[in-house]
Amino acid sequence: MELLKEISREGAKGFRLPPLDVEEVDIKNFFPEKFLRDNPPPLPEVSEPEVVRHFVNLSSLNYHVDRGFYPLGSCTMKYNPRINEEMASIEEFTNLHPLQPDDTVQGALELIYNLQDYLGKLTGFKHVSLHPAAGAHGELLGLLLIRAYHKKHGNHHKKKILIPDSAHGTNPASCTRAGFVSVKVTSGEKGILTPDILEKYLDDEVAGLMLTNPNTLGLFETYIVEMAELLHEKDALLYMDGANLNALMGYFYPGKAGVDILHYNLHKTFSTPHGGGGPGGGGVGVSERVEPFLPVPRIEKGENGFYLDYNRPDSIGKIISFYGHFNVMIKALTYILANGPDGLKKVTETAVINANYLMTQLKDTYNLPYDTTCMHEFVLSGNTFKKYGVRTLDIAKRILDHNMHAPTIYFPLIVPEALMIEPTETEPRWVLDRFISVMKKIAKEAEEEPELLKKAPQNTPVKRLDEAKAVRELDVHW
Ligand SMILES: Cc1ncc(COP(=O)(O)O)c(C=O)c1O
Repeated sequence: MELLKEISREGAKGFRLPPLDVEEVDIKNFFPEKFLRDNPPPLPEVSEPEVVRHFVNLSSLNYHVDRGFYPLGSCTMKYNPRINEEMASIEEFTNLHPLQPDDTVQGALELIYNLQDYLGKLTGFKHVSLHPAAGAHGELLGLLLIRAYHKKHGNHHKKKILIPDSAHGTNPASCTRAGFVSVKVTSGEKGILTPDILEKYLDDEVAGLMLTNPNTLGLFETYIVEMAELLHEKDALLYMDGANLNALMGYFYPGKAGVDILHYNLHKTFSTPHGGGGPGGGGVGVSERVEPFLPVPRIEKGENGFYLDYNRPDSIGKIISFYGHFNVMIKALTYILANGPDGLKKVTETAVINANYLMTQLKDTYNLPYDTTCMHEFVLSGNTFKKYGVRTLDIAKRILDHNMHAPTIYFPLIVPEALMIEPTETEPRWVLDRFISVMKKIAKEAEEEPELLKKAPQNTPVKRLDEAKAVRELDVHW
């Protein structure tokens, strides 16, 4: 594809500027002469259609959830409804300034308050903060809350956080960042943690347990209530990584199961864009014992309307500028209201059914190490293809040739040659069937024509890259 500068033609023009509606000023009065350019910047000169074509072509080189199936386990790459964007573009929202007085932003404060309330109801918590900017930021906040709780209670010896080997990778990182020592706990044979395993690790130095639920094997942690009791007996707290809430809505309420802190990934469960599509959102819900430490400001409802409360002596302080990512909150609230309670329950049902359908259809072709009903995702292993010289990476690359995104690979670490598949609820049956037939075809190719997999992908804008070199000699400039 040509670069814009290559198609540039002198005199071509594709922009229109509105008439000047302010007083014209001489730039030289504002900047010292030495900072001014001698010549105009060498921008490409192109017409409007050329610019449009250029960017449309560029955008289609990238793979995204609006182009096709994206079964990236652990990431919940569900369709982001367009109505979310429409709501977030309403001028009355986009023109707000975060420093406006409370009485001029009552609607915005109410929106945040209501979203907190809905998320709380959905998970069994009375107190929710929407300050964190991402899931891992919610984890960091959760751990800072655990630290504040123990400090307040004089538990200075509590330095350890237990983290099962099936937890999300960000958990130990957040734990270390918050000044705790992370202790890896080996899950039981069935891929989940059991109270007797927990008891072996649970000494007086344990500040809390960080439990991803459903865990990264896509399995529900059935003993969560018993484990919460064990932890509380030792004055340790239960943190639940709730990024996988897509599997639980309307069925399981962590706040009622003894969880003290839970983080939500608004950009997973609540259909707000990931990464490049905009900022994230990773609020937390907390139990009564943790509530005093929540970050400021809290949004409260008083006699004269909503207000920002900074007067919280035990608060850990601020963790983000202003009140979190408001634009993300608008989208998440839109999603919740558009679905309603029954709709959210249906989301969960469909996400779980879709995952179980794929798992059942693929488990005779690919090794399924934990063969049990899964939640919203499941983990296969590509280890049976090693004898043909084929690795999971090759399978993933070959999937790209079929115009689908690959599942997450080599994660979780407890499954060798892992292929972690999360179809989400927004995929119809025919898309799932197509994925099944692609996966079966690739398994056959692995046996009969392994070279095809080793050379894949062939149908993508760039072919197989040297990933080790790309990591070691990162060069993001052209
Ligand atoms: C289970 C789980 N925990 C935590 C995270 C981290 O969230 P984020 O990427 O928003 O930091 C993710 C991300 O996908 C996740 O799947």
